Amino acid sequence: MTAVKLAIVGMGMIGKRHLQAMRTTKEAELIAIVDPAEQSKAIALNEGVRWFAKIEEMLAEVVPEGVIVCTPTEIHLAPTLSALEAGCHVLVEKPIAANLEEAREIQLVAEKVSRNVMVGHHRRYYGLMELAREIVSSKKLGRLLAVHGQWTSRKADDYYIPKWRQQRSSGPVLINLIHEMDILRFICGEIESVTAQLQSGFQEHPKEETVAIVSCFKNGMQRTFLLSDATPSPWNWEHATGENVNFPRTGQNSYRFLGSEGCLDFPNLRIWASEGTPDWNHLMDFEDRNVPLEDAYISQLLHFCRVIKQEETPRITAKDATKTLAATLAVFVSAEQQRTITL
Ligand SMILES: NC(=O)c1ccc[n+]([C@@H]2O[C@H](COP(=O)([O-])OP(=O)(O)OC[C@H]3O[C@@H](n4cnc5c(N)ncnc54)[C@H](O)[C@@H]3O)[C@@H](O)[C@H]2O)c1
Repeated sequence: MTAVKLAIVGMGMIGKRHLQAMRTTKEAELIAIVDPAEQSKAIALNEGVRWFAKIEEMLAEVVPEGVIVCTPTEIHLAPTLSALEAGCHVLVEKPIAANLEEAREIQLVAEKVSRNVMVGHHRRYYGLMELAREIVSSKKLGRLLAVHGQWTSRKADDYYIPKWRQQRSSGPVLINLIHEMDILRFICGEIESVTAQLQSGFQEHPKEETVAIVSCFKNGMQRTFLLSDATPSPWNWEHATGENVNFPRTGQNSYRFLGSEGCLDFPNLRIWASEGTPDWNHLMDFEDRNVPLEDAYISQLLHFCRVIKQEETPRITAKDATKTLAATLAVFVSAEQQRTITL
């Protein structure tokens, strides 16, 4: 087996997570790290790979088969385009870009140079996500009528040391809600409209803090969602699942999917149904579906390698991720214009 030669551009928090995944497999070989920060030079030395301060410097000397772009969101466009134009396939972290114009530019260039752009919506690689999608469209739940979800947590003060994380382009909407928009699109289908209200003022940053959202899906389903990165709570995906050791697991659910015949707690996958006619006169019982949580970053990396080798087709393309970005950005537009945004 020949390993796929990869580079990581941006060796911060998430760049290190990709590096950790890479250490577990022989299917991928890290050949370079690109990041102007001094500490990334030491990481490259430790990994025994080349270090470059700029992507152009790397591409002038070595051209990897794939590049994983982990720079701050505002800096996704330039390295993604440079990598594509040099002939590399790209896995760019989410959101695909800071705005829709840049996202579309990435799509266009990728098509022009016939290279794949995958986007780091890593939750799509969990088996429980596939199972949730199956349950939600099964007879057990009947017709899906509504979903209520929540992502509420309080980020640590030192999270805001890099200035870019204090900005609206990297507040909880584009950093956290985008994952929720993506999994809802994955489980329930396309979003038709978004209505939202934003609140801030607890922290002294320009970004938003607490957001209430109502969305309507093309299948007629209604969704309410509460988002906040200023309140400590166990009700969010990371604490629910314990996918990241830095966020201790609580095992709480953060979603309820509600159908005409039954409902589903998520991500614990507890299916509730009545013993008899599904109405309020009948006792409800539950069935738990246990699915072990894989390392989604390893699955994502292996998939990226196989896409590069043309053995698999991308699970999430630039076009798909742009739809997730459009639904997420609609939150800002709706709140600013105080109206419902139709996508
Ligand atoms: N998939 C996920 O769950 C997940 C989790 C966290 C972050 N992210 C995304 O990853 C991206 C980065 O987030 P982070 O928290 O790792 O940021 P970070 O600030 O920890 O790291 C960013 C790194 O990029 C480097 N950098 C800046 N400009 C560069 C350039 N031009 N070329 C090369 N390197 C450059 C910085 O020096 C820094 O080391 C964001 O878009 C974020 O939304 C995704």
